[in-house]
Amino acid sequence: MSIITCIEDLRRLARRRVPRMFYDYVDGGSWSESTYHANQADFARIKLRQRVARNIDNRSLQVHRLGIDMAMPLAIAPTGLAGMVHADGEILAARAAAAAGVRYTLSTVSICSLEDVAEATAAPFWFQLYVMRDRDFVGRLIDRAKAAGCDALVLTLDLQLSGQRHKDLKNGLSTPPRPTLANLLNLLGKPRWVAGMLGTRRRHFGNIMGHVTGVHDMRQLAEWTYQQFDPCLNWDDIQWIKQRWGGTLILKGILDVEDARLAVASGADALIVSNHGGRQLDGAPSSIAMLPAIVDAVGGQAEVWIDSGIRSGQDVIKSLALGAQGAMIGRAHLYGLGALGQAGVSQALQIIAREMDLTLALCGHTQIEQIDRQLLVPGSYPLP
Ligand code: GLV
Repeated sequence: MSIITCIEDLRRLARRRVPRMFYDYVDGGSWSESTYHANQADFARIKLRQRVARNIDNRSLQVHRLGIDMAMPLAIAPTGLAGMVHADGEILAARAAAAAGVRYTLSTVSICSLEDVAEATAAPFWFQLYVMRDRDFVGRLIDRAKAAGCDALVLTLDLQLSGQRHKDLKNGLSTPPRPTLANLLNLLGKPRWVAGMLGTRRRHFGNIMGHVTGVHDMRQLAEWTYQQFDPCLNWDDIQWIKQRWGGTLILKGILDVEDARLAVASGADALIVSNHGGRQLDGAPSSIAMLPAIVDAVGGQAEVWIDSGIRSGQDVIKSLALGAQGAMIGRAHLYGLGALGQAGVSQALQIIAREMDLTLALCGHTQIEQIDRQLLVPGSYPLP
């Protein structure tokens, strides 16, 4: 195997090791994938100013965000089914995040449960909430997140209906994979993945299975989940969730200036500019294109984070230059997880940290707080 030096190397290895159904689930976007591609392409259009002959010794990426000391302004984004990318995936990724001094965000639709992750890691993590019709279940999930020691609740607002993802539909995505001939043939080429899965009992949605009535098998679980995402979710619900949670609240999926204002008015501590990695509304703008206007609208009343399209430390630095307080990586960590398990997630985090440090230095700076729009070549932003 050749030496891994960038996130793209991890992606290629993950594609070889993860069953196609789950690799495609991770790597795909919705419909024509135009927003998915724009997320990365727009980062590439923003240019950095090369500065020289400045003292760039003694650099640090450390920051204080949302009341937490972080080794860098980065967190792992919530991603569904990480425990299908690699056996016990959420536990492994949470451990890697803790070791790197950044927060891990556990998805509602994870394979390992809140309790599994809390038991396996010493550091706190964040919990991502989907609002279900069964508000009693939502309330209990919030309580479980508190009991697990989570120090922020990330409420996702952009997936009350799932975007049309052609690859998932064609692959017949299911957890675990259905024993069709195509799936069995594909699994024959993934011995590491199969061995890992045979060695764990965690193969279902751990936060849900066993916590709702009438759901005893995967078919019932899939039906329950499909019926439960609540299309009635609106800004009034946020108040109830905020009260029940009582801690740091982060709203994820803000891509519009008007929604950013509403998010601030709802009392959120932070919002995440996101189009769900190009997995929901295809044809929506990239996250980085919307970031500057949203930062201006928020006017410092809440922290503004970003996800969707971040594959390098340079992307993080560009986000910070355009006013984000931090960035989240979804696919970038899943490629590491699928390639090499916990070591792969650690490698993804190290790669991004190294690229951030180098970029900061070559732009003539030593501290994260020195970054602002001056770091960018005028005219290369804002994006149309
Ligand atoms: C879930 O968060 C997904 O994007 O599939």
